Amino acid sequence: MEIRHVSKAFPNVVALDDVSLEIRPGEVLAFMGENGAGKSTLLKILNGDYRPDKGTLSIGGREVSFPNPYSAHKAGIRVIYQEPEIIPWVDVPENIWVGELPKRLGFVNRRKLRQLVQASLAEYGFEHVLPVDLMGHELSSAQRQLVEIMRALKSEVRFLALDEPTSSLTDEEVDRLFALIHRLRDAGVAVIYVSHRLHEIKRLCDRVAILRDGKLITVQPVSEISENEIVSHMVGRELKDVFRRTSAEPRETVLEVRNLNSAWHRDINFHIRAGEIVGFSGLVGAGRTELAKVLFGVYRKTSGQILLEGQPVNIRRPYEAITKGIGFAPEDRKREGLILIRSVLENASVAILRQICRLHFIRRGLERQIVTQFVSKLRVATPSVEQHVGKLSGGNQQKVVLARWLAVKPRVLILDEPTRGIDVGAKAEIYALLNELAEQGIAIIVISSEMPEVLGLSDRIYVMQNGRITGELSRAEATEEKVLELAMAENLSAGAQGAAREQAELAEP
Ligand SMILES: Nc1ncnc2c1ncn2[C@@H]1O[C@H](COP(=O)(O)OP(=O)(O)OP(=O)(O)O)[C@@H](O)[C@H]1O
Ligand SMILES: [Mg+2]
Repeated sequence: MEIRHVSKAFPNVVALDDVSLEIRPGEVLAFMGENGAGKSTLLKILNGDYRPDKGTLSIGGREVSFPNPYSAHKAGIRVIYQEPEIIPWVDVPENIWVGELPKRLGFVNRRKLRQLVQASLAEYGFEHVLPVDLMGHELSSAQRQLVEIMRALKSEVRFLALDEPTSSLTDEEVDRLFALIHRLRDAGVAVIYVSHRLHEIKRLCDRVAILRDGKLITVQPVSEISENEIVSHMVGRELKDVFRRTSAEPRETVLEVRNLNSAWHRDINFHIRAGEIVGFSGLVGAGRTELAKVLFGVYRKTSGQILLEGQPVNIRRPYEAITKGIGFAPEDRKREGLILIRSVLENASVAILRQICRLHFIRRGLERQIVTQFVSKLRVATPSVEQHVGKLSGGNQQKVVLARWLAVKPRVLILDEPTRGIDVGAKAEIYALLNELAEQGIAIIVISSEMPEVLGLSDRIYVMQNGRITGELSRAEATEEKVLELAMAENLSAGAQGAAREQAELAEP
């Protein structure tokens, strides 16, 4: 495929500016660039979601145009989006075959459909990761992503584009996905791969195309470009010094959890002090997100105590958590973190309304002043704070969620995968900000699947598996090996079978 002189503008933003690029069969081409650089927009043009303002596409020398996704689909193009669209009330097979359900006499043949889906999941090694009985609303982020991937593969593919597909996958699932991508590449499929993870690009891709502010900066074979060169092309400026955590003196305990049990958890004990950054590590499914939701009042504990500054608290709803000074930035920003049809301003100020109200009226000037401060601190790429959050790029949406909690300055701040989808430059800035917040005495919990992030940020690390805390490591003790060992502690002791059974039980509630 040849992309020639493609441009696309939105009100007040040039998303793509005269991009020309060729995509070859049998190669994996990486798209890299900062949040808002135009990567997803280019994919949407290939997929017929957007039409370019200028420029042309051609396949095999023949000019093509895709007025809608259906026409792109017919040409063999599949795009797997950053935020998969899942129908909550239908099961996995129907979610995968949505729009093309095999029918007989007008009725969907459910048994056949299920067999079909099960067979293809088994073929790609995903059958245990994605049980076919689950309904759309029960799927984890990783499972939603897999549904999207299975959708793409159900008929013949010539171009496969994946937009940050690994951001919610475990290392093992990533390995399977990469094996699958290489298999498709070897079969002659042209694969486009969008990711912020440099080491993935090195491992997976043949060439890398770097975008900045909608312009194509360079296209090069991956073997001929260093990681540092990629980064400097992406950001177009010198990056600040690498992040350094400045550990503070231990202060008083802010949050303590004693013998907590819930549908997901058994006997959880931990504490966190003012000014501390505490990492929670573990494999996907270890119960970290659920623990955060128990603390924030989304889920109930069945027994045990939560103490805030020494006082037992009973938090039954997120509202109560917020008024008691607990903030939570969830991992799934689109479903749980944001109101997509509202502005950046409203999304960022929603948790500080009590502070900025006078006589039941929101003080708009103050609201704008506070939000603008954090929006610029986090370098959110948006034409204005009035922009609908749904129109921002994925990484910039995540920054808005963070801006909200930075504005609140809670006593305890819980961040679930805070830098998912965030570019390298902005990551360093977010780490520095968390550092600053900790210095101001906020107790910060960071749940992260990115090992360098957990190791780099945390003063202490708790590791979880199967709803239990399997160990605690100080900053000095923590290494990747030790964290992994604790994350799989039960498999190592009780044997994989027992753990698998427990995992199945845990999936129940
Ligand atoms: N529908 C839209 N309406 C208005 N602006 C848009 C729309 N879609 C994208 N944009 C803007 O176009 C620019 C490019 O966005 P795009 O989603 O392509 O970025 P990206 O490179 O995928 O970033 P990220 O790494 O954060 O996903 C951004 O400034 C974004 O706000
Ligand atoms: Mg994007």
